Amino acid sequence: MKQRILVTGGTGYIGSHTVVELQNAGYEVVIIDNLSNSNKDVLDGIEKISGIRPDFVEADCTNIESLRQLCKDYPGIKGIINFAASKAVGESLQIPLLYYRNNLMTLINLLEIMPEFGIEGIVFSSSCTVYGEPDVNPVDESAPIKKATSPYGNTKQISEEIITDYLNSKEGLKSIILRYFNPVGAHPSAEIGELPNGVPQNLIPYLTQTAIGVRKELSVFGNDYDTPDGSCIRDFINVVDLAKAHVIAVQRMLENKSERKVEIFNLGTGKGVSVLELINTFESATGVKVPHKIVGRRAGDIEKVWANPQKANNVLGWKAEIPLSDTMISAWKWQLKLRERGIM
Ligand code: UD1
Repeated sequence: MKQRILVTGGTGYIGSHTVVELQNAGYEVVIIDNLSNSNKDVLDGIEKISGIRPDFVEADCTNIESLRQLCKDYPGIKGIINFAASKAVGESLQIPLLYYRNNLMTLINLLEIMPEFGIEGIVFSSSCTVYGEPDVNPVDESAPIKKATSPYGNTKQISEEIITDYLNSKEGLKSIILRYFNPVGAHPSAEIGELPNGVPQNLIPYLTQTAIGVRKELSVFGNDYDTPDGSCIRDFINVVDLAKAHVIAVQRMLENKSERKVEIFNLGTGKGVSVLELINTFESATGVKVPHKIVGRRAGDIEKVWANPQKANNVLGWKAEIPLSDTMISAWKWQLKLRERGIM
């Protein structure tokens, strides 16, 4: 019989790509999403790619009764993948309580219902933001946790601690915490991808919207960093590669392959790429020019951070495989699809 997995935030960017991979691997998925940063059409995209329409509940995870009702309506959930969270760094500085409420209440509620309904494990979306500005790159999982520079980042740090404290107090529950570096790109079919509300804050959606003419010019935030070309360095990881890691994590967790209650893995490529290099890669992969100019630094930005993904490579048997040029092509195809649909 298929194992049932609850995916919170499953119509979102990383969530939707993960639902596709879970269904491809034979899991039965129930999505819960409040559609605050996504919409129902995503279900059509998921169905087109995987041939299966996942069960969908429109509700907010900060409401524990909605979660309990869902678990009654969809019995036998074995595991949870928790994507449901607010994630805009700048916005979190403006409205911190929303971030603490959404991100922490969601997690606390999910942890609370797990033993009530026999749910065995939870995979949690964390971020390389927990490392702050790392002392050394590439950064591995044992690197110190630095003071968070935003409420958003703080929710990820606190969430990791909540999971660890709770699981230490309970028998029989497991968790895998995945620290993402910079997820980018879209499904190669262009049926699903990233669709931020309003003016994008993140690099790739701003870049593709500039390339298609929705935005006039991409601002590159700073060229005076201590990096070879002066722009910031990140580890850009393809969202499909990232999604596949979740399937392996769920499998590992539910098969009890680890002695440890909580395991933490970096998910990145292991390669640092600068913002200017990324623009070049996009332009040469797609043949489309991206008008851009250098402007001042963005407050709170990290100068350089990239992953040491050895632990995920060795223990999970997972590796980022998709070349950055293909990732850029997928992001562009998605942008063109949005245009075709009259969305952008
Ligand atoms: C940030 C968070 C990360 C979070 C992610 C999701 C930190 C350190 N990182 O990643 O945890 O998961 O957002 O929202 O808090 N850039 C430009 N022009 C633009 C946009 C971005 O030059 O218009 C540059 C930025 O200065 C940065 C790089 O591109 O150097 C990547 O920026 P972005 O996509 O926003 O991601 P992070 O800030 O790395």
